[in-house]
This record gives sequence, structure tokens and C-alpha cells, in this order.
Amino acid sequence: MKRVFITGASSGIGAALASFYARQGASLGLVGRRRDALLTLQASLPGQHKVYVLDVRDRSALHAAAADFLMQGPVDAVIASAGISAGTLTEEPDDYAVFEAIIATNLNATVATFEPFIASMKQRGQGRLVGIASVAAVRGLPGAGAYSASKAAVRAYCESLRVELAASGVRVVTLAPGFIATPMTAHNPYKMPFLMPVDRFAEQAVQAIGAGVSYKVIPWQMGWVAKLLRIVPDRLYDHFAATRKRKPRISS
Ligand SMILES: NC(=O)c1ccc[n+]([C@@H]2O[C@H](COP(=O)([O-])OP(=O)(O)OC[C@H]3O[C@@H](n4cnc5c(N)ncnc54)[C@H](OP(=O)(O)O)[C@@H]3O)[C@@H](O)[C@H]2O)c1
Repeated sequence: MKRVFITGASSGIGAALASFYARQGASLGLVGRRRDALLTLQASLPGQHKVYVLDVRDRSALHAAAADFLMQGPVDAVIASAGISAGTLTEEPDDYAVFEAIIATNLNATVATFEPFIASMKQRGQGRLVGIASVAAVRGLPGAGAYSASKAAVRAYCESLRVELAASGVRVVTLAPGFIATPMTAHNPYKMPFLMPVDRFAEQAVQAIGAGVSYKVIPWQMGWVAKLLRIVPDRLYDHFAATRKRKPRISS
């Protein structure tokens, strides 16, 4: 990949992917809200990269950044890694705003991130659009309805887009991380099976993106957990999920 546009580049998975691609010689568009974190990353990477400080919920700002990055050359891959996670409860009125923020950041912004790149990728007959789902999308996690719903929607959306673009040569890759060691998971109050260092995740993700796979769970062990979760009957799932420790609510 020669030119890659990455949202959520200021931290975690996005930053690790940026490091990996930069070491392979790519020029990057690095997107996030925290200017300092993006500038520190930019300075640490080999090569020439552009920083775009913006909120991915601002569609116009995203489109302006995309237009600027496209002006400098064709883009091989776009990775929508910006995301947020928090516990939510429907019965808590304060959580409605959190629900909206999670859907806007995880789902709507994925659409807005891909949108401006599609025409030029179609014209070239190549390119990768990478959505980040989650194993949390496989079943509805109690206490995390907004996050589970947002990631299930990302998966379904990316599948729709994949088929829409199949004939054009543009590949849509959906990555479903299990538990990856990043700031997002740093304070989870529950056990995280097969927790994976973020650099190892990035290495496997880069391979999957290069190969243009349609859907990949990383690490593979969580792929089996996901397959199992999918076929577990509701009564059994409900029994075990009910007592599972939950992601804390922002306001709790
Ligand atoms: N870590 C895991 O185990 C795991 C598992 C499954 C899925 N995922 C998904 O993987 C993706 C990356 O997560 P991570 O673990 O790397 O989390 P992270 O370390 O918390 O990074 C999240 C990134 O998203 C950016 N971001 C959040 N809201 C934004 C907004 N409104 N506008 C612009 N940027 C925004 C943050 O940048 P700023 O704060 O600078 O804006 C940050 O760079 C997310 O979509 C997450 O849901 C992670």
C-alpha cells in the first residue's frame, strides 16, 4: 500500500496500523481529534504524512480532509478505525446521548469516511475500504447495547458495500477484533480471553487488508468463540450473559 487514510490514528489500533504501513514505506493521512497525539505519531514515523485534526462525526470536515489527501495522489486503502465504547442502559435517560454518540462515531462516520474515496477507487478499479466491527457484534452484550448494535451495523453495512462494489475491483474488508490491548480495553472490569498486543493485531490486519479478505476475526481463537456464540441457543446465551461483568456507563 502506497497511500493509506486512517481514522482513529491517534491511538490503539489506528496508530499501530499507521506505524506498520509507514515502516512499509506508505504515505499516510492521519485522522483524529487530539492534535498532540497525531503530531507525536507523525514525528515518530518514517516518511511524509498528513495530519487531519477533526471529529469524524463532522462529515464535511472528513470530506475536506479526504479531498486534500486525494489531491496528493491516489489512495490505496481507507481504514475507518475511529470508534468509542461505553456501557449503556436503555432505562437510563442520560444514556440516550451516549447511544447517539456511539452510533454516530462507529457507524455513521464509517460511511462518511468511505464516501469521498469511492469514485476515485472505482475509476482506478482498485482499493481497499476497511471497516472495524467487533466480536461484540456477534450477540447483543448486556449493558453494551449501543456498542453491540453499532458494530453489528458496521458489519452488515460493510457487507452491503462489499457486494455493491465487487464488480468494480474495490474490496471492502471487515475486521472483527477480539480483545486487543489498547486504551479502549485498558480498564475493562472483566476477563479478556486471548487478549492480543496491538502490534500483533496490526501485523495480521495488514495481511488481511492486502489479501482483500471479506471478513476476518483477529485473533483466530476469537473467531472460534464467535462461531460458537452464533450457534448457542438463546436460553443458554441469556443464562451466561446475564451474570457477565459489564462495561461501565460513562455517567455511572
Ligand atoms: N481494542 C479492542 O479490543 C477492540 C475490539 C473490537 C473493536 N475495536 C474497535 O477498533 C477501533 C479502534 O479501537 P481502539 O481499541 O484502537 O481504541 P482507542 O485506542 O480508544 O482509539 C480510538 C480512536 O478513535 C478516535 N476517535 C474516537 N472518537 C472520535 C471522533 N469523534 N472523531 C475522531 N476520532 C475519534 C480516537 O482519537 P481522538 O481521541 O484523538 O479523537 C482514537 O484514535 C474502534 O472502532 C473499536 O470499536 C477495538
